[in-house]
Amino acid sequence: MIESTDGDALPDALRFIAARRFGTLITSSATGRPSAVPCVYDVVTRADGDPAIVVALDDKAKGVPVRELTRVRNILADPTATLLVSDDDEDWGRLAWATVRGGATLVEPGEPGHRAATDALRDKYPQYAAHDLERSPQIWLQPGQGSRWSASDGNDSAPAGDVAARRPTDLTGIVRGRRSVRSFRPDPVPRDIIVRAVEAAGWAPSPHGTQPWRFVVLESRERRAELAEAMSATWRAQLALDSQDPVEIERRVRNSRDRLVTPPLLVLLCRYLPDTHVYPDPDRQLAEGTMATQSLGAAAQNFLLSLYADGLDAGWMCAPLFCPELIVATLGLDPALEPHAFFPVGYAARDPSRRPRRPAEELIARWE
Ligand SMILES: Cc1cc2nc3c(=O)[nH]c(=O)nc-3n(C[C@H](O)[C@H](O)[C@H](O)COP(=O)(O)O)c2cc1C
Repeated sequence: MIESTDGDALPDALRFIAARRFGTLITSSATGRPSAVPCVYDVVTRADGDPAIVVALDDKAKGVPVRELTRVRNILADPTATLLVSDDDEDWGRLAWATVRGGATLVEPGEPGHRAATDALRDKYPQYAAHDLERSPQIWLQPGQGSRWSASDGNDSAPAGDVAARRPTDLTGIVRGRRSVRSFRPDPVPRDIIVRAVEAAGWAPSPHGTQPWRFVVLESRERRAELAEAMSATWRAQLALDSQDPVEIERRVRNSRDRLVTPPLLVLLCRYLPDTHVYPDPDRQLAEGTMATQSLGAAAQNFLLSLYADGLDAGWMCAPLFCPELIVATLGLDPALEPHAFFPVGYAARDPSRRPRRPAEELIARWE
């Protein structure tokens, strides 16, 4: 059991909070009357490099105008607030919580950081896609003090290397635990875990056992920035085809760029056909290519599951499918490599939302 409230607890408390999705914001009135409301939030980096916790004043039914909300009035009267985040569990051995207390301000639309924080909140909570966050002020909590408690050994917000210890080891647990992660902590990724995942991919079924795939591992952020720059024109052109407005196009291009550049590592999965069979007739030749593509999915899944079992996480981006030649040219790759998918890899910044799955009965089209 650990409980810590000194200055050193703040980074730990922030890590704990950043890795979770729901909290309680506590403010107090000028006369000291406390108010607690459940909230969602994100931990962002301010222009000066310090962290801030951002809570949006969103469109969820409020009953009163945003500026009349108790928490907003409280912050204007007493600019301090506390965020409490807890792991609640019937197994008391898994209980844990953290608080961060600090100065709270309202950041208005158009003020520095508002837009980036809006993007970060939308990235963390897909539900916010339907909310007009741009119009409302945000509550920014500047962390001053932190406290954290855990019934276990304190590993809940442990450094990256300890994450693997808490991953399931059984097949069902690994298959169900893996999820697409879209934002990562900055911690570096151990090389041996990537090599192990590439080996795991090699055990996937493939047509004639040819393993028609190759991995390109991109650690260099400079190379990735060049790549993102080269791909931006394709992204803009495609979004314009969808009649998106220019501000939204730029937001999405920025997001895609960040998804390539900010993770500790980016892996490009390529189809590689030189070892596959050659047929005299077009039908079998076409099927050979399709089989190779199918086996890419199997290789990708082995790769992702292996990363997950080793404590890492990854996302999947289909962007390479839309500009394969550009990627080959920008990275100077062997032209036989056909880019199919990017996997941003790292340690999840937070537990991402999980999509529900269809029940097996719905997926079995017929059984007779
Ligand atoms: C072929 C393929 C392409 C995908 N492309 C993208 C993508 O471009 N961007 C993205 O955010 N997720 C992409 N995904 C991830 C899916 O959105 C994700 O797997 C799905 O929502 C299920 O969520 P889960 O992976 O967390 O279980 C892709 C997945 C596959 C299999």
